[in-house]
Amino acid sequence: MRHLIDPLDFSVEETGRILDLADRIAADPKAYGSVCAGRKLATLFYEPSTRTRLSFEAAMLNLGGSVLGFATADSSSAAKGESVADTIRVISGYADICAMRHPKEGAPLRAARYSGIPVINAGDGGHQHPTQTLTDLMTIRRRKGSLGGLTIGLCGDLKFGRTVHSLIKSLARYEGVRFLLISPEELRVPEYVIQEVLRPNGIPFEEVTSLEESMPRLDILYMTRVQRERFFNEEDYIRLKDTYILTPEKMKLARPDMAVLHPLPRVNEITLEVDDDPRAAYFEQAQNGVYVRMALIMTLLGLEKEER
Ligand code: NCD
Repeated sequence: MRHLIDPLDFSVEETGRILDLADRIAADPKAYGSVCAGRKLATLFYEPSTRTRLSFEAAMLNLGGSVLGFATADSSSAAKGESVADTIRVISGYADICAMRHPKEGAPLRAARYSGIPVINAGDGGHQHPTQTLTDLMTIRRRKGSLGGLTIGLCGDLKFGRTVHSLIKSLARYEGVRFLLISPEELRVPEYVIQEVLRPNGIPFEEVTSLEESMPRLDILYMTRVQRERFFNEEDYIRLKDTYILTPEKMKLARPDMAVLHPLPRVNEITLEVDDDPRAAYFEQAQNGVYVRMALIMTLLGLEKEER
């Protein structure tokens, strides 16, 4: 049985196969309308979410399956003190696959150890978010034609942003990738990302503070929200939250074929006027999230060969 807890749980080849399947699904979603008939997805969300939970549910419904679950910790038995290990043992008898989001880093990994069904990490604290990464990779590949040879600027909260950590980890496996890590001093990527991912793989990267100076060099700009819920005090959040705001003026500095991604939700780090720029890819990215999760569910349930 396979789980998806960390972006490296799938090899580059396996990741490529999931993205290929997601592309075929995007071209003809209706053709997959009954692949998961009779199967159930449980969404166990101990932390708020709109897109991730609903895109998982939409994905399973699009495949002809059904969904059950909870959307907040206080509406589950976690509020009574039940452990993740006990919850997953029980859910294994109710569903065929589950997606779990948890504020505690490592909770989905722990669940996987006790689970009788595939567990998908839908975000664990400030740690990893591998299904957002699949969504990001699909969007980058569709915009740029491949995942290699790209200069990727990640901008904003690189410290607490789990989507950033997972994306760097995954992209570091592709040839010719380089990173511009654009953040205020206080929100730089965690040291482990540098020591365990970037340095050992010999990936060129620069830690910089200026978005304007970085713009002309980028193939991809990955904007992120300052992760308010992970701050220890509100003053720091208020001081840092508006460090980077992407505007049409800044977009003028970028290449005509750059793509702007954002995992969403956006607060005010991208102004609304940028939405009309053809380089804005974030809403298409959110739509791709459904296709890639359909491909992932099929793959983890061993149904990818059922495709006609
Ligand atoms: C991200 C997350 O939950 O980490 N959202 C998402 O899944 N699309 C990014 C964020 O909350 O800023």
